[in-house]
Amino acid sequence: MAKEKTIYTCNECGGTSPKWLGKCPHCNAWNTLIESVAESAAPAKNRFAALAKTAEVTTLADIEATDVDRTPTGQDELDRVLGGGIVEGGVVLIGGDPGIGKSTLLLQALDALERAGQKTLYVTGEESGAQVALRARRLGLDGSQVQVLAEIQLEKILATLEVQQPAIAVIDSIQTVYSEQLTSAPGSVAQVRECAAHLTRAAKASGTAIVLVGHVTKEGALAGPRVLEHMVDTVLYFEGDTHSSFRLIRAIKNRFGAVNEIGVFAMTEKGLKGVTNPSAIFLSQHAEPVPGSCVMVTLEGTRPMLVEIQALVDSGGPSPRRLSVGLERDRLAMLLAVLHRHAGVACMDQDVFVNAVGGVRISEPAADLAVMLAITSSLRGKALPKGFIAFGEVGLAGEVRPAPRGQERLKEAAKLGFSVAVVPKANAPKKAIEGLTIHPVERVEEAMEVVRALT
Ligand SMILES: Nc1ncnc2c1ncn2[C@@H]1O[C@H](COP(=O)(O)OP(=O)(O)OP(=O)(O)O)[C@@H](O)[C@H]1O
Ligand SMILES: [Mg+2]
Repeated sequence: MAKEKTIYTCNECGGTSPKWLGKCPHCNAWNTLIESVAESAAPAKNRFAALAKTAEVTTLADIEATDVDRTPTGQDELDRVLGGGIVEGGVVLIGGDPGIGKSTLLLQALDALERAGQKTLYVTGEESGAQVALRARRLGLDGSQVQVLAEIQLEKILATLEVQQPAIAVIDSIQTVYSEQLTSAPGSVAQVRECAAHLTRAAKASGTAIVLVGHVTKEGALAGPRVLEHMVDTVLYFEGDTHSSFRLIRAIKNRFGAVNEIGVFAMTEKGLKGVTNPSAIFLSQHAEPVPGSCVMVTLEGTRPMLVEIQALVDSGGPSPRRLSVGLERDRLAMLLAVLHRHAGVACMDQDVFVNAVGGVRISEPAADLAVMLAITSSLRGKALPKGFIAFGEVGLAGEVRPAPRGQERLKEAAKLGFSVAVVPKANAPKKAIEGLTIHPVERVEEAMEVVRALT
C-alpha cells in the first residue's frame, strides 16, 4: 500500500505546502496552514492523454443566449437576493452565524416550492430527521411533502440526487459532508472543497439547483477554503443581531443577479417572515430627539432604508477607546481625524462608541456624515432637530462627496415624514421635494455650521 503523505493546506486559498509554515507561501496569510493528507498517489504518466484531441470551438455570436429560468421560492425577500428565484443547476452557498435561522429559512422555502409542485430534497447532516420534523411542526408546515435525507456521506447523497432528481436540494451543511475517497476528517479543507466540487458538478449535470449551507468562522467569514466561494454561482450571507428579531440576507456574489441586494426578515415563532417595507425598522423609538443620534438613508441593493446611527462620546482614560458596531472601525478613526482637523472637534481624550441600530451592518461610505454629526451631537450634548437626516461620504480633505442615487434616498426620507436633510451638494435635487428642507453642503465645516444654526 502506498504510504500516506502528509501535506499542509491553506485554509484561505487552498494552496498546499509539503511542510508546515507560519505563512502560506501562496497567499501570504498567517497561520492558515493545516495538516491534511495528500489524496492522490503519483499520477499515471498519460494522465492527460484523453485531452490530447482538440475540441470544437464556437464563435460567440453563434451560441444561443438563453435566458435563465427562475423558480420563485415563495419567499419574496429570498427571491430578491437570488435575483428572482432559484436557477436550474445553480449552486448557492449560504453562510451565517449559528442559530441565525439558516435551516429555518431553507425549510420554509423548500416547503413552499414543494407546495408549488417542485420536487425537493432536504439533506440534513447536523440534525436528525426527527429534529427537522419538530422544526417543521413548529413552523406550521404540517403535512409537508419535502423529502428528507439524514446523511453525511457524499457518495450516498450523490446517488440519491441521481435517483430522486429533485428540482432543488439543500445540503445542511457542507461542513458535515464527507467523501469516502478522502482520508481527511469531515469539515477539513480538502473534504469541504472536494464535496462542494462534486455537488457543483452534479448540479450542473442534472439541472438540480443546490443550496449549500456553510459555517462561518469566528470573524464572520465563510469557513472552509476560499475557493468554495469561487466555485458556486451565488454567495449569500445571513446576518443580524441574534438579540433583535430582524435578519438580513445579503448577496455577496451572484452570477444570476445583482450583488449587494438585501432581503429583510423578521424571526417569529412561526419562522422567518419577509419584511416588505423595511425602510423604518432600523430606527429606535424616541419621543423627542436625543443627543448622539442621527438618522441616515442607506441604499443597499435597490431599496433605500433609514437607519439610525448612535454615538456616545464620554471621557476616557489615557488610551481612549474607539468602538463601532455595524460600522467599520478604521473608518471611525479616520472620521475622528477629519472631524478634528477640518471642523475643530476634538475627541482625543474621549471614548467614542458608535452603533448602527438594529444589528444592521453598513458598509457604504455614505454613512460618514451621519456618523460625524452623531459624534458631534453627543460631544456637545445637543440633539439634532426633529425629523433630521443626513448622508454623504467624507474625504480626508474634509470634502463631502455625493452618495449614489441621492434622489431616491431623499424621497424615501420625505415619505417617512423626515423634514430636514443635510446632504452633499451634488445630491441636492433640482426640484424641491415636498415636506423636506434640504441643506446642500460641500465641506464638513459647512455641515457643522448648518447643524449649529439649526439646534
Ligand atoms: N420555539 C421557538 N420560538 C421562536 N423561535 C424559535 C424557537 N425555536 C427556535 N427559534 C429560533 O430559531 C433559531 C434557530 O434557527 P435555525 O436552527 O434555523 O438556525 P441555523 O442558522 O440553522 O443554526 P445552525 O447553524 O445551528 O444550524 C433560533 O435562534 C431561534 O431564534
Ligand atoms: Mg441549521
